[in-house]
Amino acid sequence: MLCRLKHICKFRFVTQRLLRVNTATARAKLTFATASSQSGALRVQSAHKANATRMLNVTWSNDTVNRYPFVYLRDNCQCSECFHETSLQRSFDTVGQLNSHIQPERVDVLQNGDQISITWPDKHVSVFNSNWLHSRRLPEEKDMSKERSTLRREGVKFWNAEQLQGKIPRYDFQEVIEDDFKLFEWLQSLHSVGIALVTNTPRQPGELNKLCSRVGYSKTTHYGHQFEVHAKFDANNLAYTSHFLPLHVDLPFYDYVPGVQLLHCIEQVKSEGGGNQFVDGFHVAEELKEKDLEAFKLLSSVRFQFVDLGKDVFGEFHKKFGRLMIELDENEQIVRFSYNNHVRDSVMLVSPEKAVQLYEAYLTIGTMLRNPANQIEHKMVPGDVITFNNSRVLHGRSSFTITGESQRFLQGIYLDWDGVYSRIRVLAKRFNIPFRI
Ligand code: OGA
Ligand code: ZN
Ligand code: ZN
Repeated sequence: MLCRLKHICKFRFVTQRLLRVNTATARAKLTFATASSQSGALRVQSAHKANATRMLNVTWSNDTVNRYPFVYLRDNCQCSECFHETSLQRSFDTVGQLNSHIQPERVDVLQNGDQISITWPDKHVSVFNSNWLHSRRLPEEKDMSKERSTLRREGVKFWNAEQLQGKIPRYDFQEVIEDDFKLFEWLQSLHSVGIALVTNTPRQPGELNKLCSRVGYSKTTHYGHQFEVHAKFDANNLAYTSHFLPLHVDLPFYDYVPGVQLLHCIEQVKSEGGGNQFVDGFHVAEELKEKDLEAFKLLSSVRFQFVDLGKDVFGEFHKKFGRLMIELDENEQIVRFSYNNHVRDSVMLVSPEKAVQLYEAYLTIGTMLRNPANQIEHKMVPGDVITFNNSRVLHGRSSFTITGESQRFLQGIYLDWDGVYSRIRVLAKRFNIPFRI
């Protein structure tokens, strides 16, 4: 118990430290405060059938009221007939069995408010624990935030150079391997800041697999289960040269773009060059919206085509996909930023007039991405693993020169966000930390 409390305190401290990169610290603290108070156990004071609205109005011990549609309650009965005990999946046949006009025959508050029991007209009985019910309360329309949504998730903090230069969150490799709480903190930083460093990683190939297996499993691409970045003869990718590599996200020509990228520095050039640049694409998109709304609208509504052709470990490949540079959700919140000049296709599926407008907008945002006020620089040392959100944080690399004594060698691997969020949720539950995403 003591150990768990220690972890929670540590989590608060780390969270606050991370949030200092953003001016919205007060708001963020509020979010966490709200989240923790919601985990407190509430009892049912009373439950009233409002047949006219077809809702059950539940009044909680703190005098708040939540409304649950009758159809929702019947559909989500937790009895072993309706909800499969071992798979934790719904076995109730909603379409075949649910009457959308169903009304409870009777409702009883049991166990001093810890449970509600509902008897339906066919005598089927549904018992709900108050904790279960409270944590699934439906938000009222007036309380719904349009700022947050499924993909632009709670806790995500945008940054510019002033806020993050020299302050990328850092975690020690061995600690992440051995300590589940460190693992949680690293993944939590990836979620909120979009970039984090894992340091002191053994300087040999294969170590990334160990990090990945702490999360789950990696995402294979046509460049392999993992890939090696060094200057190669007959390079099939600009990254595999010693040239300047402008800011980009990887593999925008995939429908299912890898969510997270990990680059392990095994050797780094001793001379100048070979450093990385990073930019928060979400921050720049927001800046564009303020400065040039027309360009923002264009880049969030017209697709660029992306393409990758060649040969690698799995043979010949021809990847292509068309996507928006700025992808918004139903609440106009940014959920994905895709920019990669070297694999942008010369095929354009827009009218000549639209093409000219697109070039204007492309140059405007491209210049904003290169603005030093938006860009941070980090030259990895051997042992660093830089990890970042590949749908948000753009990365680039300065050119470098290799000699007999000075080489550069990185190993890279991808993860998907589905796996990362799954691991965060599992760990958050274990440490009893609210993470409702
Ligand atoms: C890449 C890449 C950066 C680097 O492999 O996709 O961007 O530092 N590499 O070499
Ligand atoms: Zn049931
Ligand atoms: Zn890259």
